[in-house]
Amino acid sequence: MSIEILPLAGTLGADIHGVDVATIDDATFEAVHQALLDHGVIVLRDQDITPAQQIAFAKRWNDLHTHPYLAGLPEHPEIIEIIKEPDEEGGFGAHWHTDQIFTPAPAMATMLYAKEVPAVGGDTMFASMPTAYEALSDGMKAMLRHVHTFSQYNKTAKRSGKMSGKVTKPSKPAVHPIIRVHPETRRPGLYINEMENLRHLDGMTVEESTPIINYLIRHATKPEFTCRVRWEVGSLAVWDNRQLMHMALNDYPGRRRVMHRITIKGDVPFGLDEAGDLP
Ligand code: SIN
Repeated sequence: MSIEILPLAGTLGADIHGVDVATIDDATFEAVHQALLDHGVIVLRDQDITPAQQIAFAKRWNDLHTHPYLAGLPEHPEIIEIIKEPDEEGGFGAHWHTDQIFTPAPAMATMLYAKEVPAVGGDTMFASMPTAYEALSDGMKAMLRHVHTFSQYNKTAKRSGKMSGKVTKPSKPAVHPIIRVHPETRRPGLYINEMENLRHLDGMTVEESTPIINYLIRHATKPEFTCRVRWEVGSLAVWDNRQLMHMALNDYPGRRRVMHRITIKGDVPFGLDEAGDLP
């Protein structure tokens, strides 16, 4: 079967047809991996896979991450089942973010498999951080060159998703360059979250940091830097947290949505060198 890659928008995102992830061979996986680097988020349509097959596909990229605060499926702890019931108000991931910025080595990629979706609503938005970085002025790029973010997991934030309720360790803060160089594509990009886990800029107060972060979030999520994934049952998306932010749209009150989510381990982020060049 030939693989078809159809861009979702001008800047990022692609639908992929003609791949069965349950039986994928090495050559097809290489094409899918390259598509992830090229498009940032890819959606493999029409999949019919078991939790074990989803895990096996995710492991082709790297080891899997087990979330320290969210309980996974009893027999597959690597998979977090995100369920939003019709009467629930909150939304998991309903703000612009990149996964696990609050850890020293955040997730390289996240994989979401649609099990049950509303007839309309519940899409996920993505934004390209290298494109947003490139569009900044030279003055802003120079100012950000030495800036780092200071993030820490907010255990008390109101969110949906099943909490394990067994958090015993306090979460340690993580400090990352605000301009992150992608380890594979080598493109520098903004590395930010809408404030919650990202508490402030390192060495600055919250009051000083907030306007800068708010500006960067507004800039980075301009419509022309984004794409939108519309889910169908059987859609399996993979996104590259090293080059994107994403946000789940909470626009389907009264309807149910069930997703199986896996995060794939990543490396320690690095930035530009002292002179602002690629290291
Ligand atoms: C997430 O932020 O990982 C969840 C995205 C979604 O449910 O669409």
